[in-house]
Formats: sequence, C-alpha cells, structure tokens
Amino acid sequence: NNITTVRLLFVLLVGGTMCLLYSVRAPHWEDEEIEFERHEDPGPYHVAYPHKYRFILDHPEKCTQYNPFMVVIVPAALHNVESRNAIRNRTVLVLFLLGLPSGNDSKAQQRRIYEENLQHQDLLQSTFIDSYRNLTIKTMVMLEWLKDRCPQAFFAVKVDDDMLLNIKDLVRMLLNPDTPHSNYITGRVWHNNVKCNPNDVFPPYPLGMCYIMSMDLPEKILKVSKEIKPIFIEDAYIALCLERLNIAPTEPPDIDQFVVHPPHHSTIDATTPR
Ligand SMILES: *[C@@H]1O[C@H](CO)[C@@H](O)[C@H](O)[C@H]1NC(C)=O
Ligand SMILES: *[C@@H]1O[C@H](CO)[C@@H](O)[C@H](O)[C@H]1NC(C)=O
Ligand SMILES: *[C@@H]1O[C@H](CO)[C@@H](O)[C@H](O)[C@H]1NC(C)=O
Repeated sequence: NNITTVRLLFVLLVGGTMCLLYSVRAPHWEDEEIEFERHEDPGPYHVAYPHKYRFILDHPEKCTQYNPFMVVIVPAALHNVESRNAIRNRTVLVLFLLGLPSGNDSKAQQRRIYEENLQHQDLLQSTFIDSYRNLTIKTMVMLEWLKDRCPQAFFAVKVDDDMLLNIKDLVRMLLNPDTPHSNYITGRVWHNNVKCNPNDVFPPYPLGMCYIMSMDLPEKILKVSKEIKPIFIEDAYIALCLERLNIAPTEPPDIDQFVVHPPHHSTIDATTPR
C-alpha cells in the first residue's frame, strides 16, 4: 500500500567529527552585507548566525539514494548516544545533526562522534559550537542541509531526540490529499506565550520539539532570515520568518497527535498511538 511504498528518511543532525568521510563542503552563504530590517535590537535574545557554518560530517548522497517522501531531522545532543541508538531503526534512514563539542573533554567527545559515524554512517556535523543557546543556529543549519541535500522530499519533520514519533500516523496525515505541499507548517501551535519582555509578542508558532514543513519552506525561510536578526529562541525565530513570509502555521488535523507534556517543555509525543 501507499504507506509501505513511501520511503522515509530520518535525518538526525548530531555534532561531529574532524575526519570527513565525505568531505563535501555544503554550499553556504556568501559573506555578504546582511540587512536586518526588523527586530534591530533583539537585545539579550540575539544569537550570532553569520551564515558561515559548514558541514564537516555530511551525507550528501542519502536523499539521492533514498528519494524520501519525508525527511525527519532530529537535532540531537552531542553525548546522547543511547537516545540515538534507540532511534536507529533500519526500516527508515536516520541522520543526526550535531554541532561541535566544546569544553575540556571535547577531543574525546569528537573522537567518539567520529567512531559512531564510522559505525552508523548517519551523523551530520556543522562547525558551530553545540549548545542550548545555539539551537537557532542548529535549526538554520538544518534548513540549509534540507535545501541543499534533500529538495526531492515532500516534507521535512524536525523532531527533538526526546520525542516519540508515530511514523504511521504521521505518514497518514501527510498523505491526506487535504495536506498542502507548499507554504505548509504544522505542529503544536503556540500563541503568544513567549513574553520575556513586554515588547516581545511573537506571532503564533509551532513548538520547536516537533514541526513538519513542506519542502519549499527551508529555502524561503533561509531567504527571509537574512532580513531578520536571529534570536536564540529557535521556534520564535522561525515564527518571525514565517510572519515575514505571510505564512501562518496550520493546526494539525488532530490536535491529539501532538501531545505536549508538560506544556512547552521536555518530552512530547508527536502523533501518539491511538
Ligand atoms: C522500526 O520501525 C518500524 C516502523 O515504525 C516498526 O514496525 C519496527 O518494529 C521497528 N523496528 C525496530 C527494530 O524497532
Ligand atoms: C574539566 O575541568 C574542570 C576544572 O578545570 C574539572 O573539574 C572537570 O572534572 C573537567 N571535566 C572533565 C570531563 O575532564
Ligand atoms: C555558538 O556558536 C558560535 C560559533 O561556533 C560560538 O562562537 C559561540 O560561542 C556559541 N555560543 C554558545 C553560547 O555556545
């Protein structure tokens, strides 16, 4: 049936290795003058995203090989090998995205990441420091990878590594003829809940733990992102980009598919089994 013929690609982006298996330099932004038209001063929320990172671990051939219907990207924690092993399931292709380790055991960590990639061939690693404050960078680098390496997929799914994903329900939702194939982003939509400062009212956005977008969006978001100064609240930053694109997030057809517990933090089940 349709579902079994649909090939799925899990891309888990996990920080990585000095030694390159595929030393392909991902195309990256030109070192051009960037005009930020709004949020000129995001103050303490600002994060450096100079568009200059590149992949030192890459699997540029994966999407060509698998020709996936949908790509699932899991920005993962550097040390979280157990959670990656739990996700590794040979019926789907899984790639993890990582930044660089930092701190005094970073060399050993980098070595472990390299060995893990040798064994599983599924880590992508870019050259920014992997940290909580750098999640926006991770997301933007993920969008760059999707745009450059996986334009043939119909949908990209971004899932954190502490989430459970019910692939069957997700695929059923995405195969529904009512699901748009462009300008589409869905997830658990959050309304104006980030107000760390009275001036900050972000447009509604899908919570960062899991969202699904049509494959035209990575390129569109990257393009407008050059006009919007990055903030480190990654999902709110995506919301600002989407607002500029005049794209509103869509509530999922079945809200129970995106169960957040507790609200807005830690583990959520996307598309929980019914
Ligand atoms: C891998 O995922 C498929 C589809 O979700 C599932 O049917 C299968 O049992 C899983 N295999 C393992 C080893 O977890
Ligand atoms: C890192 O260095 C600090 C102090 O310099 C030390 O307390 C800590 O144990 C070190 N961590 C590792 C993993 O070596
Ligand atoms: C974020 O990454 C950049 C580039 O690697 C680095 O300069 C910066 O220190 C990182 N920030 C944090 C908070 O880790």
